[in-house]
Amino acid sequence: MIPDVTALMGEREFTLVRRLIAEYAGIKIGPQKRYMVHNRLTRRLRARGMDSFSDYLNLVLDDVSGEREAFVNALTTNLTAFFREPHHFGLLRARALIHRANERRPMRVWSSACSTGEEAWSIAMTLRDAECPAEVVGSDIDTDALDYANAGLYPQDRATSLTPAQLRAHWLRGVGDNHGWISVRPQLRPMVSFMQLNLQAQRWPTMEPFDAIFCRNVVIYFDRDAQRHLLTRFATVLRPKGLLAVGHAESFPASLAAFQPCGRTAYEFIPG
Ligand SMILES: C[S@@+](CC[C@H](N)C(=O)[O-])C[C@H]1O[C@@H](n2cnc3c(N)ncnc32)[C@H](O)[C@@H]1O
Repeated sequence: MIPDVTALMGEREFTLVRRLIAEYAGIKIGPQKRYMVHNRLTRRLRARGMDSFSDYLNLVLDDVSGEREAFVNALTTNLTAFFREPHHFGLLRARALIHRANERRPMRVWSSACSTGEEAWSIAMTLRDAECPAEVVGSDIDTDALDYANAGLYPQDRATSLTPAQLRAHWLRGVGDNHGWISVRPQLRPMVSFMQLNLQAQRWPTMEPFDAIFCRNVVIYFDRDAQRHLLTRFATVLRPKGLLAVGHAESFPASLAAFQPCGRTAYEFIPG
């Protein structure tokens, strides 16, 4: 029987949720978001066969059978799209052409909060179209979103921002049971790898330096100190003259002189 979880989450539980998600992921949830949080976590309570938020939060605190990860996954906002904020892909293409002409190594690009993968695949399509050998890394804190990203399989109605030429070059249309879906072509797939990475974790895995980092529409959930700290960490993994692309409502790179504006919501890393 499905338990009844209709009572709105209490103030005490909501406060604890806000504290925990800030601690685990650096995500700030505003006091007006109680209804949203209630709805998202109700699904987790149902999955666990529970009817008390307080009992559920004890599972999260004790991290019983991976519930902390599921809690984080439930509270992330994964809205994304292929070629979202398209001006960045024009900048990336221009850099890819220069890279191809001057470098013998693959261009490395990091989609650092890639959600369900559309951003990482858009980067890969741009680099493949520019005939620039490349390695794209997509990372996110949300393991459900990463599974989706890694599958490289999308309903066709999520691909409306792809041109017919992009669809033909990089995607296969599903037939039979897969009608209405597109899957990434084998030529594009090896260009992208996905991994879980919490941008706020104390340690990141060792990574080869990047020529460009996309960090879009994620730091809006972080406080100012966390944004600035993230920027100093990007400076350690971005090559000199590397590109940092941020979301439309974000200007955090301006807080560090080494990041010089080089286009709309785009910055070039010029170490002092
Ligand atoms: C709104 S999506 C942005 C996706 C994509 N970058 C774009 O602009 O379309 C925000 C993503 O940030 C991820 N996220 C939130 N906190 C994070 C953290 N601490 N570390 C890594 N990713 C995080 C979420 O899981 C979510 O997938």
